[in-house]
Amino acid sequence: MPISRKQIIVKRPGAHQALSVEEGLLETPGPGEVQVEVKACGINFADIAVRLGLYGAAKGLYPLTPGLEFSGIVKKTGDKTKALEIGQKVFGVCRFGGYTTAINCPPEHLWPLPQGWTFERGATFPVVYLTAYYALHHVAHLKPSDKVLVHSAAGGVGTAAIHLLRLNGNFTVGVVGSTEKVEAAKKAGADYVIDKSTEDLWKRAEEISPQGYDVVLDANGASTLMGSYEHLRPTGRLLVYGFASMFSHSGKKNIPKLLWYYVKTPKFSPFDLTASNKTVSGFNLIYLFEEVSLFREIMGNLLRWEAKGLLPAMPITAYPFEEVAKAHKDMESGKTVGKLVLKV
Ligand SMILES: NC(=O)c1ccc[n+]([C@@H]2O[C@H](COP(=O)([O-])OP(=O)(O)OC[C@H]3O[C@@H](n4cnc5c(N)ncnc54)[C@H](OP(=O)(O)O)[C@@H]3O)[C@@H](O)[C@H]2O)c1
Repeated sequence: MPISRKQIIVKRPGAHQALSVEEGLLETPGPGEVQVEVKACGINFADIAVRLGLYGAAKGLYPLTPGLEFSGIVKKTGDKTKALEIGQKVFGVCRFGGYTTAINCPPEHLWPLPQGWTFERGATFPVVYLTAYYALHHVAHLKPSDKVLVHSAAGGVGTAAIHLLRLNGNFTVGVVGSTEKVEAAKKAGADYVIDKSTEDLWKRAEEISPQGYDVVLDANGASTLMGSYEHLRPTGRLLVYGFASMFSHSGKKNIPKLLWYYVKTPKFSPFDLTASNKTVSGFNLIYLFEEVSLFREIMGNLLRWEAKGLLPAMPITAYPFEEVAKAHKDMESGKTVGKLVLKV
């Protein structure tokens, strides 16, 4: 029997009004699927890009429910789905569709909610920690001796990255865009925090590490990307995984700004990369959701560390499900710390 559910739908990309809460039906889970009653939905910066129609992987999929992660309770299992039991608390990832009160998904995309976790923690854990782990250990091939600079260090991915770097014993410099975030980045475990709203970012980065950095995590794009590249030491790796600085704080698509930042985005020369012995890599977690064995292995490691108490708590701000537009506005302000979550 289909059940009724609410979803947040973007019929056509746009500003905050593009987000509407709609009632609909969810089919019975098919063979190899699990039905989850969703209790919390994680919010990611990618959801803003999806709402605005700027996310490549969402092209052609509208009307679309954004959302890449959630937590809840298993309500039904389809035939041949044995791994999870009805009533079990779970968290998981999905390639869109996470802003919902109920979802059908393959069990490979779900994990049992660890003992003592709230639904909010479960719904905000997978995307940022999978991203940070994949970036540092798979793309950057992190060594404990690497000096690492992390932009947007008090945000979701930034905080997760600093947690993992601290665990690995790395020397870590966090960069934040406003003074209110300095404490959060320090608390996450950064050795130094640069407040670029009051300090000259690159002058301070040079004072802290005159020889440069082994790894830089940059999801700002044009505003910092060339500086990040220039401050790599030979053998350094620059990880590009987002372009937040292209976005407007107003919630609307600012075409002149997008074009200007597009033009300003550095185009790295293979000659210079070779001559300076530096690496620039890009990745997108969403294309890894099909690489089930890889992300299950990564999550296995993360959950083992979590069970040993090695991952500190992530700051989480919760919003009622219906206040998704407010959550998007806050994230677009660039002022938020840690993760945002919708509570169903
Ligand atoms: N490729 C992937 O697989 C992948 C996966 C997850 C996330 N990401 C990317 O990683 C970045 C962080 O994601 P998140 O979800 O954890 O978000 P977040 O870091 O919690 O929030 C975004 C941060 O970006 C900075 N920012 C710079 N320019 C901005 C602007 N014009 N408008 C708003 N914020 C701006 C702000 O921090 P400061 O001012 O402190 O710098 C802001 O807090 C995003 O760019 C996202 O697209 C990529």
